[in-house]
Amino acid sequence: MKIVTVVGARPQIIKAAALSRAIKSNFSNRIEEIIVHTGQHYDANMSDVFFGELGIPQPNINLGIGSAGHGKQTAMMLQGIESILLEKNPDFIVLYGDTNSTLAGAMAGAKLHIPIVHIEAGLRSFNKSMPEEINRIMCDHASTLLFVPTLAGIRNLEKEGFNVKAEAPFSIDNPGIFHCGDIMFDNLLHFSQTAEEKTTVISDLAINDKRFILCTIHRDNNTDIPERLNAIFSALNCLTAENGPEVVLPLHPRTSKLLETRLKPLLFQSIMNNKSIHLIPPVSYLEMIALEKNASLILTDSGGVQKEAYFFHKPLVVARPETEWTEIIDNGAGIIADADEEKIVSSVTELLGNKGLSFPEVFGDGHAAEFICNKMLSI
Ligand code: UD1
Ligand code: UDP
Repeated sequence: MKIVTVVGARPQIIKAAALSRAIKSNFSNRIEEIIVHTGQHYDANMSDVFFGELGIPQPNINLGIGSAGHGKQTAMMLQGIESILLEKNPDFIVLYGDTNSTLAGAMAGAKLHIPIVHIEAGLRSFNKSMPEEINRIMCDHASTLLFVPTLAGIRNLEKEGFNVKAEAPFSIDNPGIFHCGDIMFDNLLHFSQTAEEKTTVISDLAINDKRFILCTIHRDNNTDIPERLNAIFSALNCLTAENGPEVVLPLHPRTSKLLETRLKPLLFQSIMNNKSIHLIPPVSYLEMIALEKNASLILTDSGGVQKEAYFFHKPLVVARPETEWTEIIDNGAGIIADADEEKIVSSVTELLGNKGLSFPEVFGDGHAAEFICNKMLSI
């Protein structure tokens, strides 16, 4: 079986690592994988670092598309992926998540009648102002095999009219839907042990009392709407005041490029002078999970980091109006605080004071990648 895997953004490279590892370990004589990188993320610390660290084969093809507006970026990717599919004629095109690289892959695959495998299918925020919501809905509806990490995802698809009990033969008109757990959990189990041994990020930061909040912010509505960005950073200032925990914030390039112009000048200065806020460049995956394991709490608008907080049994504050990972909130392990300064501060205080949080298993058994490979082979 020949598959073309499309990656482009940081989280997709990380997710693809789990599938590539499973192919290498258990299916190398049965699955040939061709990795295509659209080039959506291109800084060394947003792309190359993950290939080396996670042992992913270098992409066979890098389209080098880079940054652009949604239309131009997606169109250039579509053109590039279409040419590759015509040349390679794979049995499946494998797509992850909800980025513009996912959407371009879905459009290319569907029009060429190459069955699409969508990993991380079924997630919904029910907020179509998010570019990701459009991308994931369109990809799900063009897919032949939908691998869904959570039961909430299965219910979402059912409500949209998918037959979640469909039987083979599967096609774009009769897609197969499988609840398989979360492929990011596979990675975490694989790398968690070595993350702290192989990195020095925690000692390098020299955090007082070792108490810190790990924060990441990159959603377009948080970076591009100044009121929201100001509210989030005001909350960070407030949280670190009067002997509060320190904050470690690996800055996504989108956020770091906008910080100085979007924050009010006084707030920007105050953040820059605040020794308890560690603004650092994006870290590697192993460094990130070392930070997650050692954090007291995680405050984020990232999809992947929300789940990783839960995997490591860390309280979570979501800096978004809603989440696709509703189980975390339903289980009381996280609070949606949006970009509301007071709500962020009160949620952090509440969760840090609650020693009775529980984290029932909702993201599978850490073998999603093997499950996906077996299903693809059996069909
Ligand atoms: C993209 C995804 C988002 C995902 C995120 C993961 C879409 C629509 N958005 O958002 O779903 O959560 O990746 O991180 O696909 N930039 C750099 N260097 C890079 C990459 C980006 O400087 O290597 C800067 C550029 O200024 C660029 C901006 O970041 O314009 C945004 O990059 P883009 O890939 O368009 O969207 P993300 O915000 O990264
Ligand atoms: N991540 C990383 N370094 C960082 C920030 C995040 O390795 O500096 C990892 C994180 O552990 C998770 C993934 O990147 O596995 C999440 O990606 P991101 O937040 O960019 O995107 P999202 O999941 O929101 O689409």
